[in-house]
Amino acid sequence: MIPENIGKDLELAAELLSDGELVAIPTETVYGLAANATNPLAIAHIFEVKNRPHFDPLIVHFGSLEAAKSWVNITNPIALKLAEAFWPGPLTLLVDRPDAIPAIVSSGLDTLAIRVPNHPLTLALLQRINFPLAAPSANPFGYVSPTQAMHVHKQLGDKIPYILDGGNCEIGIESTIVGVDGNEVSIFREGGISREEIEEVLGFSISRILRSSSKPQAPGMLVSHYSPNKKVVFSSSVDVDNLVNNSFFYIAFKQLPHSVSFLNGLILSEAGDLKEAASNLFQALRKADDSDAEIIIVEAVPEEGIGRAINDRLVRAVG
Ligand code: TXA
Ligand code: MG
Repeated sequence: MIPENIGKDLELAAELLSDGELVAIPTETVYGLAANATNPLAIAHIFEVKNRPHFDPLIVHFGSLEAAKSWVNITNPIALKLAEAFWPGPLTLLVDRPDAIPAIVSSGLDTLAIRVPNHPLTLALLQRINFPLAAPSANPFGYVSPTQAMHVHKQLGDKIPYILDGGNCEIGIESTIVGVDGNEVSIFREGGISREEIEEVLGFSISRILRSSSKPQAPGMLVSHYSPNKKVVFSSSVDVDNLVNNSFFYIAFKQLPHSVSFLNGLILSEAGDLKEAASNLFQALRKADDSDAEIIIVEAVPEEGIGRAINDRLVRAVG
């Protein structure tokens, strides 16, 4: 049965958001927990519902590049080129925060993270309202991001009035966050658009890629992020053949080890397709977390394309 706070009612979603309420929205990456980006009280409510520390800034979502330009000055030609190439899509750009967007959105930083999401329902919603939407991923802070309306409902359903149901998120992993300073391009978080795809548009290679660490150089780069409640380990650090069968859940890239059955394991992409693997990753982690197993064993994937973003999330899940 579908809970009554899940649906496709755009008018209701727009009305709630205009009243300063929170609404979960589908995007092509993961579900977001949205509020009117110009309303500081609504933004404060996001931090409260997610139990998110106030030093971790939010991403602001616009309905189009044109709409974004009416709020934000995108002055850097390289940033503009990337926006034109990838929006709507899983690219987040760091720009100067305009006065119209309150400081609480970007945790007091002078920069603001912005993107145009590529999901028909959320784009239609953004057309109906006259303000942009601040939205972090719609999960409790530190946990795996949601890729289905039911994932949001399970964890935050009693705290928010409405979840806009846009089905399964196609990309399944968060947006790539890019900062451009003069001619220097930095990747702050690897995500749905690969470094290779960005470099193809740029015509040069990106030298600065910040990765998760225990001493983050940028907000949101904490290692213990995207973590299931269960202990997660890499397959390279355990002897799978000697483990008791139901004590673990195994998430394989394209093939399960001979000693592991489908009862306590799953495959991200039998074809070895990294995009398919990315789209299945978070759901797999949730399934493993909901199982009776004590530990979750994950396999690293090839370090190429979106595989880098998958490995980044796995490293953080292992923590
Ligand atoms: O795909 C996505 O990006 C999803 C969907 C909903 O759009 N959103 C998302 O938001 O993943 P969130 O809040 O879970 O992650 C946003 C990340 C955080 O790690 C935050 O620290 C970083 O963006 N961020 C936001 N503003 C920033 C800024 N001004 N400078 C550096 N990092 C920033
Ligand atoms: Mg998040």
